Amino acid sequence: MGELEVDKHARYILSVEKDKDSFESVVMEHLRMNGGYWGLTTLDLLGKLQTIDPDEVVSWVMECQHESGGFGGNIGHDPHILYTLSAVQILALLDRLDVLNIETVSNYIARLQNEDGSFSGDMWGEVDTRFSYAAICCLSLLNCLDKISVENAVRYVLSCKNMDGGFGCTPGGESHAGQIFCCVGALAIAGSLHLIDRDLLGWWLCERQVKSGGLNGRPEKLPDVCYSWWVLSSLIMIDRVHWIDKEKLVRFILDCQDKENGGISDRPDDAVDVFHTYFGVAGLSLLEYPGLKAIDPAYALPVDVVNRIFIGK
Ligand code: FPP
Ligand code: ZN
Repeated sequence: MGELEVDKHARYILSVEKDKDSFESVVMEHLRMNGGYWGLTTLDLLGKLQTIDPDEVVSWVMECQHESGGFGGNIGHDPHILYTLSAVQILALLDRLDVLNIETVSNYIARLQNEDGSFSGDMWGEVDTRFSYAAICCLSLLNCLDKISVENAVRYVLSCKNMDGGFGCTPGGESHAGQIFCCVGALAIAGSLHLIDRDLLGWWLCERQVKSGGLNGRPEKLPDVCYSWWVLSSLIMIDRVHWIDKEKLVRFILDCQDKENGGISDRPDDAVDVFHTYFGVAGLSLLEYPGLKAIDPAYALPVDVVNRIFIGK
């Protein structure tokens, strides 16, 4: 298993960012804003954020803003609430929220709320609890939650809760650990965690741990490093993380490292990517792996960044 290859992972993230013609960069073109958030947060958790030029990143992020106030995945791309969240998270990480016109961004998000409290992802109207999380997280970081009906947003999220304690994309949708993170994160930020049955949800979540120590996202699925984040952050928010075997999970994540060239994959011996590298490192941070910065389970940002925003230190 060995140790976490901090330097190699930082070098891997930087190499993907620099090599705009690499296969991964081309495939990820429309997701660059999300990729930027994954990569930069990974570097910060590893203590390597000083290796990038913040001005260059900030000016690229601002070029991705659309006149509606929302952000696209890349320059000239249509805006979406998920890219808008990543843009705000990147600026928060770099302590540059001051470059934003907060009014325009928060109005863009508020306009996406529907009568029933749900959120559409963009002007085309698809509804999903991922967008409820993005809206609540983003508006909270911008101190603008008063622009939406938080009460209706919470009611909608709760309407997506299932008999097994989990949550889905929309009412009646199958429980899925990714959606559970979104719903629990939204409720945590909205101060409404008391509205869920922690023991019932905790059971569903801890049953995601399989023999290898890894976590899956639904019953009968293979384990995947990214669920170290979706499941673990949810367990921490509902105070049930002691229900899984943390040491076995650390070992599973470390087994997914490319020990030669850096990066982390979904499962041992698969190809690495920035998404799984981020969620592997973030998972290890939640597991208090030595030498990593702590990450906040609800905002998915380093704890010091969240404290800087909310307590000003
Ligand atoms: C699984 O995706 C994950 C989800 C459905 C949750 C996605 C959450 C967001 C985009 C909100 C922002 C997140 C953060 C951390 C700030 P998948 O498509 O890999 O699922 P699969 O394993 O079923 O294919
Ligand atoms: Zn995955």
